[in-house]
Amino acid sequence: MSLSETIRTRRSVRTFDGNDLKPEDAEKIVKFAETAENPYGIPITWKVLNAGKHGLSSPVIVGTDTYIAGKLRRVPHAEEAFGYTFEKVVLFAWELGVGTTWIAGTMNRDAFEKAMEIASDEVMPCVSPLGYPAQKMSFRETVMRKGVKAASRVPFEELFFDGSFEKPLTKEAAGKLADALEAVRLAPSAVNKQPWRVVLCEGAAHFYEKRSRGWDDGSWDIQKIDMGIALCHFELSAAACGAKLSFEIRDPELAGAEELTYIATFGLKA
Ligand SMILES: Cc1cc2nc3c(=O)[nH]c(=O)nc-3n(C[C@H](O)[C@H](O)[C@H](O)COP(=O)(O)O)c2cc1C
Repeated sequence: MSLSETIRTRRSVRTFDGNDLKPEDAEKIVKFAETAENPYGIPITWKVLNAGKHGLSSPVIVGTDTYIAGKLRRVPHAEEAFGYTFEKVVLFAWELGVGTTWIAGTMNRDAFEKAMEIASDEVMPCVSPLGYPAQKMSFRETVMRKGVKAASRVPFEELFFDGSFEKPLTKEAAGKLADALEAVRLAPSAVNKQPWRVVLCEGAAHFYEKRSRGWDDGSWDIQKIDMGIALCHFELSAAACGAKLSFEIRDPELAGAEELTYIATFGLKA
């Protein structure tokens, strides 16, 4: 499967076929996760967990007893780093035919955190089931997907901008970065809110977060995990198209960004 096919076909899987995850798939996924890097250089510890052994449950997941979870220190940019790295794992699993769903809320979090042996300075932002997708979605999954319009995304021109926030970007103007931006557009996000906004200007792609009201409790911003996912899709897809990128955090202080939060920039090397 090509990267763009992986990104286009991936979806959250909440209904699994009841078969155990093959030990060789579990091993490949953990090994991949343990060596997956993120642009922030923040290390993440991973575990594959058995639901029965640790008393884990999620009301939205049926047909698998296996989960993967990651934990990291609660440091600046932990959210973006976690989003970036976990999404690499999600895409890798999908290439193996293993379904996942990012889960931040719908789980018995205390049991997961106990199984992950979370220290006081650590955080376990999300977990995911691992297993083989069932032929048919459960009724609950079908209803959930409708509730968040899981199959739809905000149009390209409303997410991406050309030189300034005043000018929507067309796919034509995006040139060879159009596919990488389309990969951002298709990414998964919490409640499918798609908070990413990107301005292409002067050889750089500046990433911003459009926060949903009432979501940020001041100490933890789940939509920054979505931003990490967006950075991951962009970087992997641009690299697959031959673009050479540098990762930077340097706010260009663009006009019109007052309601947004600057996240990071990919410089495009000639
Ligand atoms: C950070 C994050 C947290 C999420 N938390 C949950 C969750 O708690 N429960 C759930 O069922 N789905 C959760 N999702 C999955 C989203 O609802 C899903 O990705 C989105 O609706 C788009 O659907 P798709 O993944 O099938 O493309 C989460 C996704 C992300 C990125």
